[in-house]
Amino acid sequence: MTAMRTHYCGTLDAGAIDQPVRLCGWMHRRRDHGGVIFVDLRDRTGLVQVVVDPDTPEAFAVAERVRSEYVLQVAGRVRRRPEGTENPDMATGEIEVLVEELNILSAAETPPFQLDEEDVAEEHRLRFRYLDLRRPEMQARLRLRAQVTRRLRRFLDDEGFLDIETPMLTRTTPEGARDYLVPSRTHPGHFFALPQSPQLFKQLLMMSGMDRYYQIVRCFRDEDLRADRQPEFTQLDIETSFLTEEEIMTLMERMVRDLFAQVLEVALPDPFPRLTYAEAMRRFGSDKPDLRVTLELVDIGDLVREVDFKVFAGPAADPHGRVAALRLPGGASLTRKEIDDYTRFVSRYGARGLAYVKVNQAGAGREGLQSPILKFLTDAAIAGILERTGAVDGDLIFFGADKARVVNESLGALRVRLGHDRGFVEHGWRPLWVVDFPMFEWDDKAARWNPLHHPFTAPREADIERLATDPGGCLSRAYDMVLNGSEIGGGSIRIHRHEVQQQVLSLLGIGEQEARDKFGFLLDALRYGCPPHGGIAFGLDRMVMLMAGAASIREVMAFPKTQTAACLLTQAPSPASDSQLRELGIRLRRPPEGDKPHSATA
Ligand code: AMO
Ligand code: AMP
Repeated sequence: MTAMRTHYCGTLDAGAIDQPVRLCGWMHRRRDHGGVIFVDLRDRTGLVQVVVDPDTPEAFAVAERVRSEYVLQVAGRVRRRPEGTENPDMATGEIEVLVEELNILSAAETPPFQLDEEDVAEEHRLRFRYLDLRRPEMQARLRLRAQVTRRLRRFLDDEGFLDIETPMLTRTTPEGARDYLVPSRTHPGHFFALPQSPQLFKQLLMMSGMDRYYQIVRCFRDEDLRADRQPEFTQLDIETSFLTEEEIMTLMERMVRDLFAQVLEVALPDPFPRLTYAEAMRRFGSDKPDLRVTLELVDIGDLVREVDFKVFAGPAADPHGRVAALRLPGGASLTRKEIDDYTRFVSRYGARGLAYVKVNQAGAGREGLQSPILKFLTDAAIAGILERTGAVDGDLIFFGADKARVVNESLGALRVRLGHDRGFVEHGWRPLWVVDFPMFEWDDKAARWNPLHHPFTAPREADIERLATDPGGCLSRAYDMVLNGSEIGGGSIRIHRHEVQQQVLSLLGIGEQEARDKFGFLLDALRYGCPPHGGIAFGLDRMVMLMAGAASIREVMAFPKTQTAACLLTQAPSPASDSQLRELGIRLRRPPEGDKPHSATA
């Protein structure tokens, strides 16, 4: 009970019958029933029906004036709804509030869209986000998000983790995206970078003896945006000392299981299954496989190395190539047009074609098959393919042949697409760990090694010796947590020895001077007693998106940005004034194009 109200609207039930109540909320809907006015009053907890009758002429006069989204205060008495007018679909459907006094706390102009309108353009929703967030669905999502962070905090607090803040104005942190820069007034010509993650600070905290750290922290990355990527997003960031990767994974699994059990009443598997990176790529063409999709890739390179078909024989003989098959049960019924559509689909991932074989009768040799490439394949190759894919009558087999990267990306995506199109998706939650990542991947264009995670990830102990001679063959002590095809977290054991860190940086083409300039503080700290340490960061937005069953992380963020990294609500970013720029010692190469609102492709 507060000065303004005694109850929340959505919490009233038959237990409150005959009680005087005072409520506050928004006018959701009004119905004029010849002499009696019904108002659905809405607050965070839901709706309650409020009845104003002409026996209270003052209140009635006010009720005649109220419109959608007016903010009202109601004083009245709870009563049982007359028989036959109960609403079983409404939590408060048994009762109503007979009004004695009605105050308009705030009038509202006609809203640009009705809250219960479906298919409001996202651009519109983001521009009037404060209205959009009034919708029960959005309220439920943000409530879920708060529940998730509360639960995670409680778990980590109980496990002895300290919540420690790290700077937002800092130096560039190497997570592989572009930085957001902030000019310094006091150091003209110098810039802070907003953190892409607290990676280096959390490692320093381990060197400070903090032992177990966590933070729910904003990270900033200027990268191409998608449904599951925002320029600023939130991590649950974690670091520990003196734990092995086994122990970290076990602890994190326990945390996520606890979260799902408490918040969704879902029992996740114990333990989570694990896949090596190599196996995930081989079977699913992805390092974040959606295990709900039951289709799998198989390698057939060895079967077609000798065939008279360059499309297959070339990649089969190339050490960086791959020839893989994907069996689609019942796929022989696909039409020409459907196959063409899938061919266009894989071309988005760089595939130059999508060969296929329809299996009308698996036991009938060539006669039972139908395919434009049949003539190129030997009997032995055909028999081998049928056997390895386990094809039966009525199936279709798709093929990808190219550089391994292209085959994995295209057939990996096709696998998921076919799963959804053709009903090969199981229900439920399929978490897993992906482990044994390579330390580095070769960047053809830049002609150098890139880290698969970040440059502070430790190589496996057994591979330290091989770093110099065989970087491509070294595996790291990294682990990713994947849920239903989404990478929800990634982490690793870190390098805690100065000379190994130096060696990895130089392998990545970061010379001693550059390393000193960029990470001198970290390299120094490594010399003053660094515990073995490791951690992980979860994408909180992604996790909540999955738990909410939402299609984009924008749906679980209060004030997200558009696909072009703009805020439609505040019209940020915006030009700086001349005096601000002067103060910062900045002159623009090109003046900004007016102060027009950003085009919004949300
Ligand atoms: P990483 O870069 O893998 O690791 O990020 C961790 C998790 O953050 C989420 N994520 C994002 N979510 C929304 N929008 C984005 N733009 C975005 N980018 C990443 C993903 C990802 O799994 N410092 C390391 C962690 C560590 O090693 O401890 C890091 O940041 O869910
Ligand atoms: P072509 O010889 O280019 O006419 O190709 C014959 C068949 O192989 C067609 O069905 C193509 O879609 C398919 N194809 C071509 N290139 C590839 C590739 N790299 N991977 C898989 N299938 C391919």
